[in-house]
Amino acid sequence: MKRAVDPYLTILHTVAETVSRSLDVDEVLRTALDALTHVTGHEISSLHLVSEDGLRLLLQGDRGLSPRLREVNRRLPMGEGLIGRVAATGETLRLENVAGEPDLFPPARAAVRMDQIRGFVCVPIRSRGRILGTLSLGRQTTEGFDDREVALVQATADQIGIALDNARLYSETRRQLEELRRTQTQLIHAEKLSAVGELASGVAHEINNPLTTILGQAHLVLADAELKPALRERLQIIAAETSRAARIVQNLLMFARHYPPERRPCSLADLVRRVLELKAFQLQQDAIRVETDLAPCPPVYADENQLQQVLLNLVQNAHQAMARHPRDRQLTVRVRPAGDRAVIEVLDTGPGMASEVLPRIFDPFFTTKPPGDGSGLGLSVSYGIMSEHGGRLRAENRPGGGAAFTIELPFGTPAD
Ligand SMILES: Nc1ncnc2c1ncn2[C@@H]1O[C@H](COP(=O)(O)OP(=O)(O)O)[C@@H](O)[C@H]1O
Ligand SMILES: [Mg+2]
Repeated sequence: MKRAVDPYLTILHTVAETVSRSLDVDEVLRTALDALTHVTGHEISSLHLVSEDGLRLLLQGDRGLSPRLREVNRRLPMGEGLIGRVAATGETLRLENVAGEPDLFPPARAAVRMDQIRGFVCVPIRSRGRILGTLSLGRQTTEGFDDREVALVQATADQIGIALDNARLYSETRRQLEELRRTQTQLIHAEKLSAVGELASGVAHEINNPLTTILGQAHLVLADAELKPALRERLQIIAAETSRAARIVQNLLMFARHYPPERRPCSLADLVRRVLELKAFQLQQDAIRVETDLAPCPPVYADENQLQQVLLNLVQNAHQAMARHPRDRQLTVRVRPAGDRAVIEVLDTGPGMASEVLPRIFDPFFTTKPPGDGSGLGLSVSYGIMSEHGGRLRAENRPGGGAAFTIELPFGTPAD
């Protein structure tokens, strides 16, 4: 007579097939629990996984547990009771009469008795040497579990371990892919920004030439001694405004051009004035009052373009923060010496930074602004520049609301 296929092999095959086919852990657990309760048809099964903090075992599924036994089993302390012990030691447990076991978790004893559970086996679920949970099987009949049955439960637990590992790897891979995608989008955006910078410097060049001509011509006419006073006054206005436009274009060129870093003594007060002049029009358009407090301060030894970039970033951020905020808008920039360092403060009356935002603002590509408004690079680049200069850049919220950015720069010498 031909022998029937070993039912244990069929069970194991069903579970293994689900593991190899599905990344859904719940489906694997369901299949495993279902399959195990068919060993003789009288089994009660339960599956626990270790909680995130490692202190408890949480019931993930069961077959045949009575409501009271399920309640007891919902959360088990790690290391205590029969199941908790298996999870802590990793040693398989097999009992003939579980109700008589002295180590049984006290709250479970009454329920086990009432449900008349006798034979009991509990095996650890492992993955990569770590214990992730336990798989338990109980039986109300008098015969205990034999070696083959214990081996079957262990093999099923191993399959569950593989499924859990697969799921973890899969979600980790997806997370990394997602991060890669995001970084790629941001890089493309940064690339575009630098293209815009190039374009701006090209345009600035083109504008610079006619401005120089206008200014030259105005000065030539002004040199005419016969000029009527009213006309002279108007020409002077033309010359002054043209100079202002030329200065803005110059500043823009300085900013957009990529000079190699070059350190020399810089006046911070001049720097602040230049940056504020560059932004004056935009700030005025958004009704932002500007206050400066520039105490006499020795020059710092630094790359002027880079410092200007840092300050411009801070002023730009303050501007954007206040423009979205319906409050009294005031930008304050202060410079003062403090020991061997210069301190620059940029203070605004915007909304400040939320507690979950603040720790991340110096991360490259971190931005809370819509695409087009922010690249998330300003502060990370500024931070890098300050570090290169042996200085510091820090951010905090002001007690009365708004953000405060503080730069500290050592005075230093060319020898540093
Ligand atoms: N003055 C400020 N007030 C409030 N939030 C700010 C301020 N400056 C920076 N931030 C926050 O820090 C983030 C990162 O700034 P930044 O690196 O300059 O990038 P971006 O300005 O392109 O967003 C901003 O998106 C914003 O959430
Ligand atoms: Mg910015």
